[in-house]
Amino acid sequence: MATSRPRVLQYGKMPLPQLDAELAQAYEVSILSEQPDPARFLAEHGSQFEYLVTSAGMGLPAHVVDALPKLRFVSSFGVGFDSLDRESLMRRGARVGYTPGVLDDCVADLAFALLLDAARGLSEADRFVRRGDWARSRFGIRTRTSGKRLGIFGMGRIGSTVARRASGFDMEVAYHNRRPVEGSPHHYLPSLLELARWSDFLVITAAGGVGTQHLVSTEVLGALGPQGFLINVARGSVVDEAALAQALKQQRIAGAGLDVFEDEPHPHPDLLALDNVVLAPHIASGTHETRRAMADLVLRNLAQFIATGEPVAEVPWS
Ligand code: DGY
Repeated sequence: MATSRPRVLQYGKMPLPQLDAELAQAYEVSILSEQPDPARFLAEHGSQFEYLVTSAGMGLPAHVVDALPKLRFVSSFGVGFDSLDRESLMRRGARVGYTPGVLDDCVADLAFALLLDAARGLSEADRFVRRGDWARSRFGIRTRTSGKRLGIFGMGRIGSTVARRASGFDMEVAYHNRRPVEGSPHHYLPSLLELARWSDFLVITAAGGVGTQHLVSTEVLGALGPQGFLINVARGSVVDEAALAQALKQQRIAGAGLDVFEDEPHPHPDLLALDNVVLAPHIASGTHETRRAMADLVLRNLAQFIATGEPVAEVPWS
């Protein structure tokens, strides 16, 4: 006797192509973004889906949740959940699984890659050599990292993984968070402004969302000062990107390394013309090992919720 497989709505193609195939093997999958008319598909078939799969990158807008009256569970690929529409999910009473923990090392690695690149001018040095400038002139000397102060805004799993790497680089660490982290060996500073004033390198690992919108402002950048570097591997929305571009242009801060932007995939146009900023296309979790671990957690969250009504890792909305 043929067993019927649960129906799953996939919001779009996943960041790991094998995951598309694995979902299609285990479930009766429809991919919304592949439908000729997604709005019509939702209107005609929305009531058939209890389960949905998406990613932090794709997000989940309210109009999709509102078109799925029986939605019970969303399995999201990613640790960020600011792009999933909380209000509509709450109204629907749908639970949400996500993929924390498995990407901390990779994101911390990228934070350090950006930090070292910004401090030593590595991307700029690469352009210098390729242009043939080495034969004509000297590359300018840069900033060392050992003995410097690393400020972490957002001392969660990723922030503390960055802090562990910093100790290997002989950097002093302090942090700011909504509240001090119990048992943390690092110095807590009660405001982001004070942290920026203290830091040589300010690394942003705070969650995005309305509560953190533009917290890295002109004033915070001013406190970081002309010797300071800003590194952002969290969410573009945490930083006032126009203010950052101005600060970099006028050399009111020394440099920046950015993996995330306010309007991806469109960094502020002024950033593209500046040599004192290193830009990456939101790749912090982009390694084979980490994306595989994230995919496994997406699958486990979904399978376990269907079997028991409880996911492995549930979004902590508060
Ligand atoms: C995450 O997991 O939230 C990453 O930023 C990818 O979007």
